[in-house]
Amino acid sequence: MSRYRLHPTPAQQAVLRDHCGHARYIWNLAAEQHSHWHPGRRNAPGYLEQSRQLTAARAENPWLAAGSQTVQQQALRDFPTVPWPNPLTVPQEAHCQVIFGTVDLQDGQDATPGIRDVRICGSQLVLRALRPREIDEAWQAMVTAAPGVIAEVPDEASFKARLQRSGHLEHGWLDLAIDLDGVSIGRIQTFVPPGRPLSPGTFDVGIDLRDDARGRGYGREALALFTDWLFERAGAEVIEASTDPANVAMRTVFQRVGWQLAGSLTEFGREWVMYRTTRLEWETR
Ligand SMILES: CC(C)(COP(=O)(O)OP(=O)(O)OC[C@H]1O[C@@H](n2cnc3c(N)ncnc32)[C@H](O)[C@@H]1OP(=O)(O)O)[C@@H](O)C(=O)NCCC(=O)NCCS
Repeated sequence: MSRYRLHPTPAQQAVLRDHCGHARYIWNLAAEQHSHWHPGRRNAPGYLEQSRQLTAARAENPWLAAGSQTVQQQALRDFPTVPWPNPLTVPQEAHCQVIFGTVDLQDGQDATPGIRDVRICGSQLVLRALRPREIDEAWQAMVTAAPGVIAEVPDEASFKARLQRSGHLEHGWLDLAIDLDGVSIGRIQTFVPPGRPLSPGTFDVGIDLRDDARGRGYGREALALFTDWLFERAGAEVIEASTDPANVAMRTVFQRVGWQLAGSLTEFGREWVMYRTTRLEWETR
């Protein structure tokens, strides 16, 4: 039972949400460090080492440094003291309660307008923001992709600017690296196709894995994780994606994950097949 109740103004709520997002990010990193422990392995870092790591992370990431160091360090202090059934999936509002006590948030603010610091953990993969050097690698992968995979190559500056916002869902756009054992093996994203505005609650998805990571089940895991997260956290009602009719790998992944073939469309002067899943279909699959 909390002793104090906050009644923040909308502007204060925005600041609190940022603090919560930073604290949750730090917490989830700490949880990830601990999840790698097993008998015989050295202990995961304690508070002092984690504080040093936080200082380094703030130096490398301006968005983290823009937040409160006190709040971020408090997440590390709380980490060993708060019992948590599954510390890798700290929900967004739960961490507001850990850090600030109960905060009354206004109805309807949670879902689509913007979600920061997205990090989605699966059994093998983590979907997370791209690191700076991965943005250049992503650009190289984009310009050297096989014909038919990329619908339309964007200009370099806007592509890189977009990836610098990775990890944040804003106006239907969210770019994430697909991370296996700390290394990015590809990207998954939601985007708004040019000239085809999406209805509220509809998200279009794209995915691309490095050549050497294909055919090992990662596409399937990444798409299932992302689909789950969009329904659970981002207020999605419909999730869809189009692909080249000849892209057997992508079409098989859609089918295996449980999406439905929803027809075809002409875009960028070509025919595409569209796959889709709705909230109801996903929940009852
Ligand atoms: C398309 C892509 C995301 C698929 O991911 P993936 O990790 O290679 O696929 P998975 O290993 O998860 O395979 C899932 C299923 O598809 C099948 N599959 C994968 N590649 C296949 C291929 N080339 N031909 C036929 N089936 C294939 C797998 O056998 C598996 O089926 P199963 O569950 O019965 O074993 C990945 O190959 C990729 O990034 N390709 C290049 C970029 C691209 O085409 N992106 C899509 C643009 S719309």
